Amino acid sequence: MTSNLDQLVALDASYVMQTYGRLPVAFVRGEGTRLWDSEGREYLDFLSGLAVTSLGHAHPEVADAIAQQARTLLHVSNLYYNDVQPRVAEQLDALIGGGGRSFFCNSGAEANECAIKLARRYGQRNGGPERYHVISTYGSFHGRTLTTLAATGQPQKQETFQPLPSGFRQVSFDDVDALAAAMDERVAAVMLEPVQGEGGVNPASSEYLHAVRRLCDEREALLIMDEVQTGLGRTGKWFGFQHSGVVPDIVTVAKALGNGVPIGACWARADVAAAFAPGDHATTFGGQPLAASAALAVLDIMQREDVPARAARGGDRLCESLGKISGITDVRGAGLLVAAELGDRDARVVAQECLDRGLVVNAVTPTALRFAPPLLVTDDEIAAAVEILQGVLA
Ligand SMILES: Cc1ncc(COP(=O)(O)O)c(C=O)c1O
Repeated sequence: MTSNLDQLVALDASYVMQTYGRLPVAFVRGEGTRLWDSEGREYLDFLSGLAVTSLGHAHPEVADAIAQQARTLLHVSNLYYNDVQPRVAEQLDALIGGGGRSFFCNSGAEANECAIKLARRYGQRNGGPERYHVISTYGSFHGRTLTTLAATGQPQKQETFQPLPSGFRQVSFDDVDALAAAMDERVAAVMLEPVQGEGGVNPASSEYLHAVRRLCDEREALLIMDEVQTGLGRTGKWFGFQHSGVVPDIVTVAKALGNGVPIGACWARADVAAAFAPGDHATTFGGQPLAASAALAVLDIMQREDVPARAARGGDRLCESLGKISGITDVRGAGLLVAAELGDRDARVVAQECLDRGLVVNAVTPTALRFAPPLLVTDDEIAAAVEILQGVLA
């Protein structure tokens, strides 16, 4: 008899563009840190849909907020005000540090697209027509639209889609001299992840971030912090940049903001945000009542639960336990965004074996596993996940 999974895989192959190398499992239900697949098997989710469901699956308060809003008003377009969007912007501004304005969109790539357009607008207005270049780093990931791909420092992802938009250049990550050498008067912005997520969970040093800020100030360039993966408590602070005390000019967020409902935001210092005039940038769905209601509930719960403190504590516990497993040669990251190096083991094979035993993690590089569980993960769940991995590596 054909299983539910076989049927789904066949349907997918017939009707869905084959852009993903998927693992052979279809999830149908979730609750907190738990997932269930189409065959009724239970899993511990230590990936959170790529750092998205930070409050866990099917959080009842988020679900209630979505259901309530769905019965009230889903969408009106940005030709009009809605009564939720500015309240999300207010909360986000307070968590980032105050004094800014947000633009709402639907994904991380769109948040970064907005940041790049805004930086160009601001740069050209203040530094002339040539000031539109954006410098990012090798190993970075900023999205898959053509422009954010041009900013993504992974040549193998860029090659297939040449020519990409001009005005982008990458330098080595965590390398002040390389950045200093690239910073000329045409540079409108430097774009960075405080911890490179997709590149392998590589934290930037605090000294580097301070030096980047100094260089940006000296050369009149903006500092864009891509917090799409690191934002909203994941690293043990509300935002990754807050570990260093460096204050960026533009901050992008997405993933965790809706706990699974697609919403992204680009926050900018008010005088930078003012470079956009009505008509300069827009998106139909951005900040619509449904997605904004999810975000408002998420931000409310996150503050009540003090998720940064929980991520810091959970992260310490996870790293300590991972460090004791024989076969793991290095553990790195911040808060509950963690990578474990596996020496000569193939991380994709190990991730598949973990999945077979009921643990969802992913191979963030060929030799490293990534862990990004919900920030409300319990000590028992951490212990159970570590035990599964230990069994696989034994
Ligand atoms: C740091 C960072 N920026 C941008 C993106 C792109 O976000 P999205 O996939 O929502 O477009 C990602 C996605 O992984 C990311 O990790």
